[in-house]
Amino acid sequence: MKGIILAGGLGTRLRPLTLVTNKHLLPVYDRPMIHYPIECLVNAGIDEVLVVTGGEHAGDFLKLLKNGHQLGLKYLGYAYQEGEGGIADALKLAEEFADGGKVCVILGDNIIERSIYKAAADFRAQPTGAKLLLKQVHDPQRFGVAELDGSGNVTGIIEKPKDPPSDLAVTGIYFYDFDVFNICQTLKPSDRGELEITDVNNAYLKRGDLTSEILEGWWTDAGTFDSLFRASELVKDGGANNKA
Ligand code: G1P
Repeated sequence: MKGIILAGGLGTRLRPLTLVTNKHLLPVYDRPMIHYPIECLVNAGIDEVLVVTGGEHAGDFLKLLKNGHQLGLKYLGYAYQEGEGGIADALKLAEEFADGGKVCVILGDNIIERSIYKAAADFRAQPTGAKLLLKQVHDPQRFGVAELDGSGNVTGIIEKPKDPPSDLAVTGIYFYDFDVFNICQTLKPSDRGELEITDVNNAYLKRGDLTSEILEGWWTDAGTFDSLFRASELVKDGGANNKA
């Protein structure tokens, strides 16, 4: 299984910091943000990774990460997203790289405490479809949120609901089979003009080919001043991507 890190976007919620660099190169405690999703993939046994980025500072990723060998990667590639088409639009650029196989997609501003090694192994054993990692949060309105039936099965995912059906956020770590690239071709832009990853996940749900697990340990994004600050505190206090 290969890894795809989505690290584009304008980072408008972090201006003025993001006027001079890409959000994913900003510091989270003692490392640039992008180091954390790379470590997460390496700890899950994934050592071939594509970083999809865009904007004016894309060249800085190459300066920082080079060929990725010092971070434990066997192969590190880069793709460039033109414009602001959204997460699922960025994912389309990884089709050649995926080369017919399964992928683990991680949003470049998602940072976690524990290893996803077991979830990755579970998905390797899953014949087809997709797998999501969910996490209980106190502010579900900020995320994609899972709707559950009485037995705890996911019955729907709603992007940034005003009235959340649960407190389980869909984290930005997704496992997909190669059919994800066909699904991405069928998507229509949302009200915010983007191809939404939530629409991809709902497409898998509709065909009955979506599994989910609750993520253990802490999880945070880092795309706002509050979450960026919290990410640094969490990393300082307890480390990230721990193998335990
Ligand atoms: C994105 C996804 C959302 C997900 C979140 C996780 O939101 O659209 O479903 O819960 O990442 O970080 P964004 O941060 O791009 O607004």
